[in-house]
Amino acid sequence: MFLLLLAVLGIILLYRWYRQSQILENLTDKYVFITGCDTGFGNLLAKQLDRRGMKVLAACLTQTGAENLKNETSSRLQTTILDVTDTTNVSSAAEWVSATVGNAGLWGLVNNAGIANVFSPQEWQTKEDFSKVLNVNYLGMVDVTVQLLHLVRKAQGRVVNLSSVAGRLSLLGGGYSPSKFAVETFSDSLRREMREFGVKVSIIEPGGFRTPLTLHIDSYIQNMMKQWGNLPAKTKEDYGEDYYKQCTKALESLINGASSKINKVTDCMEHALTAVHPWTRYSPGWDCKFFHIPVSYLPTFISDYVLYRIGPKRV
Ligand SMILES: *[C@@H]1O[C@H](CO)[C@@H](O)[C@H](O)[C@H]1NC(C)=O
Ligand SMILES: *[C@@H]1O[C@H](CO)[C@@H](O)[C@H](O)[C@H]1NC(C)=O
Ligand SMILES: *[C@@H]1O[C@H](CO)[C@@H](O)[C@H](O)[C@H]1NC(C)=O
Ligand SMILES: *[C@@H]1O[C@H](CO)[C@@H](O)[C@H](O)[C@H]1NC(C)=O
Repeated sequence: MFLLLLAVLGIILLYRWYRQSQILENLTDKYVFITGCDTGFGNLLAKQLDRRGMKVLAACLTQTGAENLKNETSSRLQTTILDVTDTTNVSSAAEWVSATVGNAGLWGLVNNAGIANVFSPQEWQTKEDFSKVLNVNYLGMVDVTVQLLHLVRKAQGRVVNLSSVAGRLSLLGGGYSPSKFAVETFSDSLRREMREFGVKVSIIEPGGFRTPLTLHIDSYIQNMMKQWGNLPAKTKEDYGEDYYKQCTKALESLINGASSKINKVTDCMEHALTAVHPWTRYSPGWDCKFFHIPVSYLPTFISDYVLYRIGPKRV
């Protein structure tokens, strides 16, 4: 009986491995548009896909980012300057992509551009703190997707959205987590709509990785300090100086614990774009596989308890 179970399990794993390892033909014919290619995941992914022979259209926020990337890649790779929060800029980028890909359509759209500003308790934040993050991570993505989707439908291609483990489990205050929850739910709806058109949608939910986003720790700490400084005296007294210190420590340890193997994330993105059977969700990172995602499935009273135990407390 046990042996039978083992054999069935083995066959399932083998099948899964086989399905996962099937890669598309003619990768070199395919165009992929990636946002946020200046640094981090977008930058590495652009180089990786360029090496695979794909035709990469890389959108960078800055001219220097674009020049550096061009310097490190083949002549196939083309760049454009794009601020995803500027709708007219997104429209011109969409026109540029449309003219470049022509009848082939756009095989891959990678929504990668993202920011974070400050991770402190909700009460310390202002509406502007939230809207700044939501504007890039969520509305910017929506704009790019909506304006480019017809090209992806033409190619019966793929959309890959970069979410985060913070889009599955609310770990931190501020706009980052809500922006990633929004990415998850919109991607889910769109995947169901796009099934009709043969377009596949994948969501990448990395745990903590060392990208410029996490390396900006000093600025997050400074922003937290600024917020703390702006709080009314009564509020400060209620939380206590020690609570604030624990918040900065928690942020530091979270970021120091981040993995530097960022290629684990771009490998998932690459799989989503090049595999015959891409997955719906990828969760690269041990922290996310063995802690955050499992905790997100627990009943709320248990996950609340677990996260409360490791969170900052008043003394
Ligand atoms: C790959 O390209 C070749 C030549 O352009 C074509 O004959 C073939 O059908 C293509 N294969 C797929 C799967 O599109
Ligand atoms: C790109 O490479 C050229 C020649 O190798 C160099 O002169 C230029 O400064 C580089 N540009 C950037 C932005 O690194
Ligand atoms: C977006 O705006 C920037 C700065 O105004 C400009 O340099 C860039 O060409 C625009 N991008 C597109 C695709 O038009
Ligand atoms: C990707 O995420 C954006 C922002 O949440 C959403 O608007 C878009 O529909 C998603 N794309 C797909 C194909 O799911």
